[in-house]
Amino acid sequence: MKQIFILLPLLALALVGCNPTPKNNATQQPNQSTQPLNNEVIDAIMARRSIRQYHATPVSRDTVMQIMTCGINAANGQNKQSWEVRIIDNPEKMQLIQDLMVAGNPTLQPDMVRGCMHGAPVMTFIARDLGYDFSAYDCGLLAGNMMLAAQSLGVGTICLGSPVRFINDAQNSAEILSILGFSEGYELCLCVGMGYANEAPAAKPRDINKVQFVD
Ligand SMILES: Cc1cc2nc3c(=O)[nH]c(=O)nc-3n(C[C@H](O)[C@H](O)[C@H](O)COP(=O)(O)O)c2cc1C
Repeated sequence: MKQIFILLPLLALALVGCNPTPKNNATQQPNQSTQPLNNEVIDAIMARRSIRQYHATPVSRDTVMQIMTCGINAANGQNKQSWEVRIIDNPEKMQLIQDLMVAGNPTLQPDMVRGCMHGAPVMTFIARDLGYDFSAYDCGLLAGNMMLAAQSLGVGTICLGSPVRFINDAQNSAEILSILGFSEGYELCLCVGMGYANEAPAAKPRDINKVQFVD
């Protein structure tokens, strides 16, 4: 009986402290967690933001490879690892790729094409195996792991689709792709830029109402 007197107030406190899942009329809110963040993985997930301004400071190849090792440990269909990654961290090579992208897209504003990489000092080009129907998901999961690993190491990242378009659609795409040197049967599908962040953007709103239990 004594235990009930102790347990009931505790139960009441727990219920008052509960934060129910927002219903459909809730507005979009910045990244919300109903729990205090006391977990390093969750902290990294919630703190990661796309970085579009970088310091010129290079990222060491050891750090890049640590990030890539986390990338390739992502879940992937049948462990086919249906990706190939090419990394450019040499400023002259980066400049060459950007110059070729500008030359290959004469109808587009040069600044827009050049700026699509946001000055990231390291650019990873991720290609998918065209022979595997789930390879785009594999590449996305690889990129996700890379970005979270980078976040945990203090390296900023940005996932990029626009360089993929500017390369694949370029008049000189064969020349650019030959520099990247992917294997036959692979198609460039995603880029992830990395570097030390020179900005700290706020979180963009997320809509938790897109996630619903089916009762
Ligand atoms: C597949 C994909 C392609 C993206 N392409 C671009 C891009 O070309 N340029 C850009 O500035 N951001 C790009 N982003 C970044 C998104 O704009 C960004 O993730 C989104 O606005 C959410 O912001 P956050 O990453 O800061 O949370 C891309 C993200 C993904 C996942």
